[in-house]
Amino acid sequence: MFGIEHPITLGGMQWVGRAELVAAAAESGVLGFLSALTQPSPEDLVKEIARCREMTDRPFGVNLTILPSINPPPYEEYRQAIVESGVPVVETAGANPAEHVPVFHEGGVRVLHKCTSVRHAVKAQRVGVDAVSIDGFECAGHPGEDDIPGLVLIPAAANAIDVPMIASGGFGDARGLLAALALGADGINMGTRFLCTSEAPVHERIKEQMVRASELDTELIFRPLRNTARVARNAVSRDVVRILDSGGAFEDVRELVSGARGSQVYETGDPDHGIWSAGLVLGLINDIPTVAELVDRIITEAHSILDERLNVLAN
Ligand SMILES: Cc1cc2nc3c(=O)[nH]c(=O)nc-3n(C[C@H](O)[C@H](O)[C@H](O)COP(=O)(O)O)c2cc1C
Repeated sequence: MFGIEHPITLGGMQWVGRAELVAAAAESGVLGFLSALTQPSPEDLVKEIARCREMTDRPFGVNLTILPSINPPPYEEYRQAIVESGVPVVETAGANPAEHVPVFHEGGVRVLHKCTSVRHAVKAQRVGVDAVSIDGFECAGHPGEDDIPGLVLIPAAANAIDVPMIASGGFGDARGLLAALALGADGINMGTRFLCTSEAPVHERIKEQMVRASELDTELIFRPLRNTARVARNAVSRDVVRILDSGGAFEDVRELVSGARGSQVYETGDPDHGIWSAGLVLGLINDIPTVAELVDRIITEAHSILDERLNVLAN
């Protein structure tokens, strides 16, 4: 459907999903998504798409994340920029894509909708998306409020929808890829694992911190606000949880969780400067490969596991 070599996508990542990383993904045969809202304006997004095209001839897409916001960005203008730039696919996330699907389809853009529950996957299929990405409780960013891990969520979603489906959340190696395929997915989506590659525009100290971290080093913030986000556990995430758990309101944590502070983490290399997304797969990350090394390793190891472990039933 997407004209790529391997069944792997690089999900949209705020501040990180820029041309360097997305082009590297495309060059290694997987489908990467530029993060639309990382660009300060729709015009800047058009320029970023052009910059990415200069780095690769292979297909890539754009992620458009639509979240409730006090000062919403001009979503329709970003959507128009995506359509006019002629990218083949958009990854929508955060809200029901119903109003956007017809506009993207008229512009020849396929819609891969990322959601966190079976009911939302069914709804997305009903409104005409081309494929669904299903994000389990393990994922970085917004896992939803149902807390269903991939082991159940992926086959449950596979039972309920017919469009192609990508499993997301907690994937980082060949074992995860094969497990996802066995559970009924057509491929995997990764965020955190790609965050810890050479091409990710993130300070080296943050990548080293990710290598040191384990599966215990994430934290769920915004639970009391029913807008849960899984982030790297640090001084700021602990403060946010403490304030909200003791009855605080969003206003009381607004400054702590600001995007500007979060983006500084990646620039300064201070992991405690702000909030940054990371998933449970931190526990499986032990190095900082290039994107091509990572993708090659996943595919090569998947073949070995198929031959050496999964042939047990055939013998
Ligand atoms: C640093 C970072 C930023 C992210 N930003 C976004 C975003 O802006 N929009 C979005 O839809 N998903 C975002 N995500 C989620 C990823 O696209 C992907 O769904 C998720 O990382 C998958 O789980 P994994 O991290 O376990 O691989 C982000 C993830 C990370 C790690």
